[in-house]
Amino acid sequence: MFKTIIVYESVYGNTKHIAEEIGKGVDTPGNIQVEVVKPSEIHTDQLLDYDAILLGCPNHNQKPANNLVKFIERASIVHPECKIGAAFDTYTGGNKGVALNKLEKIIKDKLPGIEFVMSGLSCKVEGRKGPLAEGEKEQAFEFGVRFAKKLQEDLEAS
Ligand SMILES: Cc1cc2nc3c(=O)[nH]c(=O)nc-3n(C[C@H](O)[C@H](O)[C@H](O)COP(=O)(O)O)c2cc1C
Repeated sequence: MFKTIIVYESVYGNTKHIAEEIGKGVDTPGNIQVEVVKPSEIHTDQLLDYDAILLGCPNHNQKPANNLVKFIERASIVHPECKIGAAFDTYTGGNKGVALNKLEKIIKDKLPGIEFVMSGLSCKVEGRKGPLAEGEKEQAFEFGVRFAKKLQEDLEAS
């Protein structure tokens, strides 16, 4: 059984929905255990137990939400190595990928033991509180399915 953890931050619940949909997608092959948690629900030491780590949060003032960034900074102390990963964000208006790009840079800098196996996912919300724009939940599920395939290929090859 492979193990994946999805750590997300969410104020109004939209990024939580995206994290959960990604989790359902990752769960489809049946041999990957998936957990979806907020930073406050996991100790950074526990990251060492997983094969794959996904990290996602809303765009707050053109940056990744602070709680997730702080979690990544704390996680850097435990040096997770040889993990497979990807990132995601949610945004409003024309800010597709803005927080995501910064989040990916922070992860590469602070957690170099995570190898990105695919481009990140940026999901639109209609206004600050949501709801998610049409089609975004489906995109998130598909993202999870693709991630699961990459994870299996990578781990079976190693
Ligand atoms: C303090 C704050 C600042 C925000 N700044 C931006 C921003 O600069 N650009 C943007 O696209 N969305 C911005 N948003 C909207 C968030 O991206 C939106 O609330 C979020 O995607 C919803 O996700 P959630 O339900 O998981 O909290 C901001 C929201 C908050 C609460």
